[in-house]
Amino acid sequence: MELSWNTDHRRQLMRSSAARALLEPHAAASPLRQRYHFMPPAGWANDPNGCVYYNDRYHLFYQHNPYAPRWGSMHWGHAVSSDMLHWEHLPIALAPSSALDDHPKGGCFSGCAVPLPDNTLALVYTAVNEDNTNPVTQCMAIGKDGVCFDKLAQNPIVTKLPPNVPCDLRDPKVLRHGKFWYMVLGAALGGSALQGGDGGALLYRSANLLEWEYLGVFAQSQGRFGTMWECPDLFPIGDKWVLTFSPMFCGSKTSVYWVGEMDFETPRFIPQQDGVLDWGGEYYAVQTYAAPGERRIAMAWQNGWEWMPWWKGFGPTAEQSWCGCMALPRELGLDPAGRLTAAPIAELKALRLSSACVERQIIHAQSVRLPCPSPDCCELEFRLSLSGTTARRVLLDLRIAEGRYTRITLDLGAGELFFDRSHSDGGQCNGNRSAPLKSAGSELQLRLFCDTISVELFVEESCVAMSNLIYPAKSLPYISICAEQGQFTAHYTCWPLQPCV
Ligand code: FRU
Repeated sequence: MELSWNTDHRRQLMRSSAARALLEPHAAASPLRQRYHFMPPAGWANDPNGCVYYNDRYHLFYQHNPYAPRWGSMHWGHAVSSDMLHWEHLPIALAPSSALDDHPKGGCFSGCAVPLPDNTLALVYTAVNEDNTNPVTQCMAIGKDGVCFDKLAQNPIVTKLPPNVPCDLRDPKVLRHGKFWYMVLGAALGGSALQGGDGGALLYRSANLLEWEYLGVFAQSQGRFGTMWECPDLFPIGDKWVLTFSPMFCGSKTSVYWVGEMDFETPRFIPQQDGVLDWGGEYYAVQTYAAPGERRIAMAWQNGWEWMPWWKGFGPTAEQSWCGCMALPRELGLDPAGRLTAAPIAELKALRLSSACVERQIIHAQSVRLPCPSPDCCELEFRLSLSGTTARRVLLDLRIAEGRYTRITLDLGAGELFFDRSHSDGGQCNGNRSAPLKSAGSELQLRLFCDTISVELFVEESCVAMSNLIYPAKSLPYISICAEQGQFTAHYTCWPLQPCV
């Protein structure tokens, strides 16, 4: 492949890292920095990009504005890790530098990383420049050492919009299947994301990664899954194929999966199951790692966009020179019914400090305080024995301080879980959320991960995960729990976690 030694690109990379360096001391001093969720050193971050295990390390690229803690002029930030928790920041990988991508409302949009047979790493991304006649194209850059990337002289590698795609086409995911490379792109069909569009995923095929043949639409919303699909991913788990995407304007859904069969020839995805990857307000643009040992790990941006109905803002961290973080990496699997399961990666257990608090209590209507010595950097586990439970509802208050709390309600009667953040902070966080709560077994296990500004919860038996942001000031060292209309026995464990970012 012929590389263009694009001096403009190198110059823009240097300029952007110098600009970010000026913000870094301010971001580092921010009291809202997370303790174990990935964040940029400073500036803005959204989608994870190019999630790849390459040369024995996990690489995380991400949508990044190194100049300011707000979206604009998209670059690709870059970090590496051997456990997806302790990250080392590397130089910025991509910067807008050509007529295809140099625009304040454009740049190098989301995409993927592909290790090549000669052990170089290709980044495939959408170049956006609202000014010219090619507003959206797919482009490639190559890094010989996986650190310093040059854009290809042949860019763009996909230029034309296919029929029925008037404007929204982005976020390439390239995968190898059989003798060919395939590229999945997210699109709005028959209209735009904002007007008249129907979300869908398109498939292209190539023998050499440079010349791409358009094969067609292989999955489509048909009015059920939003107006535009952002950041699609397509990967196998066992003998099934999984398609994930972030639909725009799809009610409360931010991340959807389909499980089924994939026919690369027709092309057509035949769904057998669909579901929601996360029921929270802040879990978007999921991308996956193919990790050693056949593991499939999901990464997602822990925030959301202005067009989401519950959105009030990106949060107060922007006043402290940074904005945006990633949700915890989650290991994906399939349950016996063929639904996608997502569990926090096992590596997280290594962050548990030995000083766990363990309690077993019968809980009635009177609220009980349970110890939580490190409320903004901990993992909590509740096991609720359902056999002896008469309570209709279980109320759990976290991050408690003067008049502030975040309430999780398990409505066992209605089979629903509520996440109420209306008293979490001074009104800076987004709206409340709910999720279905099915209890098939004799016990319900709830795992909660609290960081400075986030709560992620997992209900194992229900395949329910939920990621939400809150912005409380200092919290008191306990949580509070009570039962409504009956009683239950709670087995509670709280592990303070070792900060790692
Ligand atoms: C998803 C998204 C992508 C786009 C990127 C721009 O959050 O809108 O579709 O490539 O963000 O930053």
